[in-house]
Amino acid sequence: VDDRKVTVDSLILGALRTTPDGVSGIDLSSKLGLTRAAVWAHIEELRRLGYEISASPHQGYRLLGSPDRLNPDDLMCRLTSTRFIGKDIRVFQKTDSTNDIVGQLAREGVPEGVVVFAESQAAGRGRLGRRWRSPEGKGLWFSILLRPEMPLEFATQCTIAAAVAIVNCAETILGERPEIKWPNDVLFDGKKIAGVLTEMDAELDRINHVVLGIGLNVNFDQKDFPEELRGAASSLKEIAGKSVNRMDLAEQLLAELDRMYSRVRDGHFTQIANQWALDCSTVGRFVRVSQGDTMIEGHAEMLDESGALLMRDQNGRINRVMGGEVQVLNSDELRKSRNTGRE
Ligand code: BTN
Repeated sequence: VDDRKVTVDSLILGALRTTPDGVSGIDLSSKLGLTRAAVWAHIEELRRLGYEISASPHQGYRLLGSPDRLNPDDLMCRLTSTRFIGKDIRVFQKTDSTNDIVGQLAREGVPEGVVVFAESQAAGRGRLGRRWRSPEGKGLWFSILLRPEMPLEFATQCTIAAAVAIVNCAETILGERPEIKWPNDVLFDGKKIAGVLTEMDAELDRINHVVLGIGLNVNFDQKDFPEELRGAASSLKEIAGKSVNRMDLAEQLLAELDRMYSRVRDGHFTQIANQWALDCSTVGRFVRVSQGDTMIEGHAEMLDESGALLMRDQNGRINRVMGGEVQVLNSDELRKSRNTGRE
């Protein structure tokens, strides 16, 4: 059974995309069980949304161009073979935070895999209570509902799987792999291009749901960043030197997230963890992790099977770190930290 939410517009866009040479009005109407007038009305609606569709007696309807707007029907018709993610896709022009919308849907009992995008967020949230700038049309701001019937540590696995999916996808555009800063920041040349905010609703030993919130800077120019972020943040456009089509990117990213999440669900997290360790600039370095008032320093050794960072302190003890803000120590800081350790 396929439980995808299919609309007439998504069927029409699907037909137009699979037959670029044109599809006749008769074919469309018989395929969709609609009158030709009804098909025409839908075509008109798609044109109003910015789709460029030609109509001729010879070639029928042809898709000539699509707008730089996120369209749920269009995404639905492109993502026909995902296992979990994107069977229901919604787009808001503006919202406070897509994580809140998905949290609300989760409490209403919506099945896993629903994806909510926003063209802009008025109150986008980052990790550690930070704000996440989400101006209109410049990025992909979205959240996914997951319901893994698994113990708590799977939430961390989902986050790590998401970071690897973003890196895989960015590599196809940039020709080079960005790096991951533990636990889930995606950086290129030391500048942040994406982040993941995972929020979870759980009982003692089982997850009720996970909201995976992803922010990816796509078509930002430096001037679009507020002053305090200039130099610290970047975007795919800036690195690639040209604008990136957000719909194509959204399609690829959701497909990749589905592949990675499937691996987590199937118990193959180790494969992802290995890739993560290769991409992660934190592993193998001396780092300081701050969690509120506490701070741990040590050598970041590796990730364990639940996604926690294993850090060896000066006494050789291994600490398991689940979250916090990480900073790679430079040689001065390292010397200081060693000296303090000896006192
Ligand atoms: C971080 O690096 O601090 C995480 C940033 C996560 C931002 C995304 S944008 C979509 C979703 N909605 C939010 O409010 N935040 C996440």
